[in-house]
Amino acid sequence: MKYNIWFPFTQMKTAREPLLIERAKDCTLYGKEGKTYIDAISSWWVNIHGHANEKISASIAEQAEKLEQVIFAGFTHEPAETLAEKLLQIAPGNFSKVFYSDDGSTSVEVAVKMALQFWHNQGATRKTMILAFEDGYHGDTFGAMSVGAPSVFNSAFSKHLFPVHHIPVPSADNLAHIFETIRTLNIMGEIAAFIFEPLVQGAGGMKMHQPEDLKKLLQFVREEGIICIADEVMTGFGRTGRNFAMEWTGVQPDIICLSKGITGGFLPLGVTLCTQAVFDAFYSDDKYKTLYHGHSYTANPLACAAANSSLDILLSEGCRQSIQRICTRHKEFGKSLGSSYIEPIKDLRQRGTILAIEFQNGKDSSYFDPLRDRLYDFFLENGVLLRPLGNTVYIMPPYCIRDEELEKVYEVITEAIEKIIL
Ligand SMILES: Cc1ncc(COP(=O)(O)O)c(C=O)c1O
Repeated sequence: MKYNIWFPFTQMKTAREPLLIERAKDCTLYGKEGKTYIDAISSWWVNIHGHANEKISASIAEQAEKLEQVIFAGFTHEPAETLAEKLLQIAPGNFSKVFYSDDGSTSVEVAVKMALQFWHNQGATRKTMILAFEDGYHGDTFGAMSVGAPSVFNSAFSKHLFPVHHIPVPSADNLAHIFETIRTLNIMGEIAAFIFEPLVQGAGGMKMHQPEDLKKLLQFVREEGIICIADEVMTGFGRTGRNFAMEWTGVQPDIICLSKGITGGFLPLGVTLCTQAVFDAFYSDDKYKTLYHGHSYTANPLACAAANSSLDILLSEGCRQSIQRICTRHKEFGKSLGSSYIEPIKDLRQRGTILAIEFQNGKDSSYFDPLRDRLYDFFLENGVLLRPLGNTVYIMPPYCIRDEELEKVYEVITEAIEKIIL
């Protein structure tokens, strides 16, 4: 491919020319020569209210006329203050501080730094180990790669990543064993933090675990004196049918990472929320106890204005109803698919607005499964953007998706089973 741009997650030698999108509205992407695509994955899980939402774009335009950017150390601004207040109101638990950054990966970097320095500031120098889930994904920067599971995404850097202990996601069968592993690892109180994607592991293959199992694990982890970091970069803002996945567990994490849907897909923004107890370990006359982290565009006013507007939409009755409608429709479709195609489907799972269908007959159940490219091409040829993870096809639509559009997505998946899988 001859191109000036080096695209992300793309082998430039073998990839096809990217599709040029000229504009987008709601769930539709408009390409060249009248070609349209239903964006059934909310463009990498960010456009929760679809594309070109008028309310969000108006709030960005209004903000751009007033204040587009200002250094966020020694200065503040109204959109960031308002957003912090709103986030603290709806966050799953009793958080007291909001730290801004740029995207999901940086919200994770901040969380990991907060947790490690929390112990360092208190002189607990032995508390340095981090626990994370197998198959977890937390982003592309070095700290985020370290806490993610070893994978094709980070294998070239394995020698440069800090050591992390990975545990399986909890189930009724393995909880006792996981407790034993953690107890042994933490015998001298070495574990500083546990980072996890609650209920749905996105990039790892839309793998899901149950709230009651996660609840038991988190209760145990907290009893062990370990800081809990919930990475809700993907699951946040309504994805799982509630505002945040942690609401299903009823457990309060110490730190939570948010990004992706926060601005409704208009602008990049990351936030890391923490409890008063975490913050207190940094609150000091000693300058060495400061959290020395920040980015040039931290709390960009346009991104904060977009997020304020996106949150208003998310909390509206209409949006809540749409989320519930998608949950119900997915359930019905999943049920009919599961009973019609017992052989080729290995697993069918749903959490809220996310429906994942894992197929049996991939030659290789990894990210490189050749079935993946055939399915991806078939979906696009039929006007639907779905981006399978190996042999797992998932739907994660914008909440404004209409019933007819959902129906078309379901139809295309059924057709793919008939024409490609069977
Ligand atoms: C759970 C989770 N955390 C962090 C990230 C990284 O976010 P970003 O790509 O915005 O850096 C992702 C991205 O997919 C994610 O799914």
